Amino acid sequence: MIDTPRPPADTLAMDANARARSQLDQLYAPPEEEILHRIRAIKQELGERVLILGHHYQREEVIAFADITGDSLKLAQQAAQTNAPNIIFCGVHFMAETADILTGDDQHVILPDPAAGCSMADMADEEQVARCWRELAEVINPDECVTPVTYINSTAALKAFCGRHGGIVCTSSNARRIMEWAWRRREKILFFPDQHLGENTAVAMGVPDKAMILWDPFQPLGGNQPEDIRRARLILWKGFCSVHQLFRPEHAEAMRREHPGIEILAHPECSRAVCETADFVGSTEAIIRHVSEAPAGSSFAIATELNLVNRLRIQHPDKPVYFLSPTICMCSTMFRTDPQHLYAALADIRDGRPGNRVTVPESDAGPARLALDRMLELG
Ligand code: 13P
Ligand code: SF4
Repeated sequence: MIDTPRPPADTLAMDANARARSQLDQLYAPPEEEILHRIRAIKQELGERVLILGHHYQREEVIAFADITGDSLKLAQQAAQTNAPNIIFCGVHFMAETADILTGDDQHVILPDPAAGCSMADMADEEQVARCWRELAEVINPDECVTPVTYINSTAALKAFCGRHGGIVCTSSNARRIMEWAWRRREKILFFPDQHLGENTAVAMGVPDKAMILWDPFQPLGGNQPEDIRRARLILWKGFCSVHQLFRPEHAEAMRREHPGIEILAHPECSRAVCETADFVGSTEAIIRHVSEAPAGSSFAIATELNLVNRLRIQHPDKPVYFLSPTICMCSTMFRTDPQHLYAALADIRDGRPGNRVTVPESDAGPARLALDRMLELG
């Protein structure tokens, strides 16, 4: 018998490492035609048993599988209307929560990667908002004179808070209409968690600076004096989107110098300085419509998430589209949903054990639904 010499120990270790690397590569590999093919096949097999909703910030290879794409408002409206027993939400956690609140108990809402959160939504929690309400009560009677308005980018608990206190939810598409409604009911608005959407909308409505105050949840009375609170018509929570805050007005100046005639489009989560310099401010859906309806040859520099801007660039080769910032502003949590996670979510449904289900307890879902229904009625 010929004795095969054993490879030295470090070679064995290298083989083991190479094997582990190859297994990792398989797990995290960029989407292969194989996985895309499997997604197509399972989706076809499941037919009407599954509806895939995709937010505009999703990556290309995921949005390609969405039955419906949209901004936060459109996707919430679609969730409220569907009878599909399984809804895969390619978006972030608050969106899946909203869909669960608006669908029946027998419908499953699935977030392919449960770690897909939203840093802005995390900037206001139930305890902080309840404390704010108590502190306001030291100065005014908030239940009589303040309408709480939460941006849809918030936890279900905060939507429930609004439902319990005569308040409402808004999105970046309908913030103006919602704030008009809120001010018709009570003289003041407490707007959370995004300072910028509240401020930009109020500025566009002609609300003067002296009628707005900022509420810092880490300061007593939010960092305000009692007379500031009595005077204010709009109390803005000090929260922001870590992606949209990266755009600067200097970026718009540089673009205009380099591309005379270019139109600057901005999402209202950008700072006031950026929105004031922009030619058009709107939600993701409004930005898409604006670019689509513009005549060929129009050029745009856009201040919103990178995946959407890249998609617009590809879809409109006759209209030059630029990203407003010289640095990459991408929502890393939206990016978490990849074809592998989508495939796993579909396979779990096929196998009768839907995983990563998002459920909101009825104690919050009931009052949150009230605040969402008020919004959906206003459109
Ligand atoms: P819209 O989808 O309302 O435009 O909002 C963008 C966003 O940041 C979603 O998280
Ligand atoms: Fe949240 Fe900003 Fe990402 Fe939207 S883009 S999900 S607001 S972190």
